[in-house]
Amino acid sequence: MRKKIVAGNWKMNKTLDEAYVLTSEIAGMVNDEVRGDVQVILCTPFPYLIPVLNLVANHPAIAVGAQNCSEHEWGAYTGETSAGMLASLKVRYVILGHSERRHYFNERGNVLPAKVDIALKHGLSPIFCCGEPLEVREKGDHEKLVRQQINEGLFHLDEGAIQNIIVAYEPVWAIGTGKTATAEQAQEMHAVIRRQLTEKYGKGNAENISILYGGSVNAGNAKELFACPDVDGGLVGGASLKSREFTEIVKSV
Ligand code: PGA
Repeated sequence: MRKKIVAGNWKMNKTLDEAYVLTSEIAGMVNDEVRGDVQVILCTPFPYLIPVLNLVANHPAIAVGAQNCSEHEWGAYTGETSAGMLASLKVRYVILGHSERRHYFNERGNVLPAKVDIALKHGLSPIFCCGEPLEVREKGDHEKLVRQQINEGLFHLDEGAIQNIIVAYEPVWAIGTGKTATAEQAQEMHAVIRRQLTEKYGKGNAENISILYGGSVNAGNAKELFACPDVDGGLVGGASLKSREFTEIVKSV
């Protein structure tokens, strides 16, 4: 059975003091009412990983993730953070291929497969993002592009390795815009991704991979999105910065 997951992507937000408050509030509110099989992941900026890890160390439902890692193992790469460093902190997840990294830092087939490999090598689970910009959807090429992104970033993996991947479908036109995909649009694309994973890895393996929806998820729309059969939770940006709203989203999965 695949996991239900709600991951908060804080992006480049919050001071250290604010990060303490946000994490403590979330840890206090994510309690017995949350189903036992739900994994909550807080993807914080690098400087807050250790304090946030310490705050949630004894919380059964909350894990910590990073928002990126280097494609290189170690060495003279000023300003970079390696998967091995993250693993040494006991970080368990890392977002890779987020549309902001694709857009602003030109990350795609040139680096993403290497980042996926190095994260897996160090025992991290990548949250691998895919999704189409507005102009691609308007042309009707969204399926083609997303299949290409999955193919390029993940399909060098074998059946064992793919089990450690979480996929996040995030239509770029829905990220930070307040414009959410409808439940039908989300389900349609999640089914496309599940079918593609089935073709490559077989039904048994594809059924075990969690596919998250991301793009303006909030407390008002989470329930309907998460009710779709192939939507296994969410990757939440803006709404993950507000403890009460994020907790409501967690309780909707
Ligand atoms: P958003 O961001 O929820 O603010 O749209 C989602 C994301 O970028 O992961």
